Amino acid sequence: MDPIELSSQLRKPTGETGKEIGKVLNESNRGLYELAFEMMSLQKDDQVLEIGFGNGMHFPEYFRLQPRISVTGVDFSMDMCEEAKANNADLVASEKLTLHCEETSSLPFPDNRFDLGVALNVIYFFDPPEIHLKEIHRVLKPGGLFLIGYRPRHSVEHLEFTKKNFILYEADELTALLKKHNFKKVEAETRSSQKMAMDDTEVRVTDSCLLFRKT
Ligand SMILES: C[S@@+](CC[C@H](N)C(=O)[O-])C[C@H]1O[C@@H](n2cnc3c(N)ncnc32)[C@H](O)[C@@H]1O
Repeated sequence: MDPIELSSQLRKPTGETGKEIGKVLNESNRGLYELAFEMMSLQKDDQVLEIGFGNGMHFPEYFRLQPRISVTGVDFSMDMCEEAKANNADLVASEKLTLHCEETSSLPFPDNRFDLGVALNVIYFFDPPEIHLKEIHRVLKPGGLFLIGYRPRHSVEHLEFTKKNFILYEADELTALLKKHNFKKVEAETRSSQKMAMDDTEVRVTDSCLLFRKT
């Protein structure tokens, strides 16, 4: 696929191609989700918000780790919302999982609603990041956590598809950005590296997660 088209599909998977991209992401981002789930330490009755969930194949893992939580997802791709609803019909029917097709720049939730926010491979698309981070901060409870999963700039900047639509960060830059929005870093983990077949190439990448607390 043309790198420019791939880049815009990664930002907002759309149509039949978007659905295929969703499946590719399930494979290429499995390791990053594993790392994120290890860092979450989900507590009974937690209210979790996941932003940019893609096709949502990973949602059952939240409930395997902690059955007594409630998860809300927000993704602005209509096609990903539909895929995620179809892939999680039982969880949606039980109302343990609620999915919204919305933009993070304007979240349809009251202040101080969630214990944990999760965003994997989404931070690159917050442009400019300020409005999105302000909204996420608003909907987290005081002391709530925000887990960001991402690929650091040095590990992906050579990939053609990251040259458009993506804002890439190193850990210290993300930490400084989040600090400006009243988030304090509490944990950082990096695991390298997994093979990712994208752009018709096989590359080694670095999975990184940063966990922040709302101050
Ligand atoms: C690269 S995919 C990542 C999907 C999944 N989290 C993963 O890591 O495999 C980015 C996802 O975030 C969604 N997204 C990007 N920017 C968004 C925004 N501002 N508001 C809501 N969803 C957004 C896209 O529609 C897409 O499903």
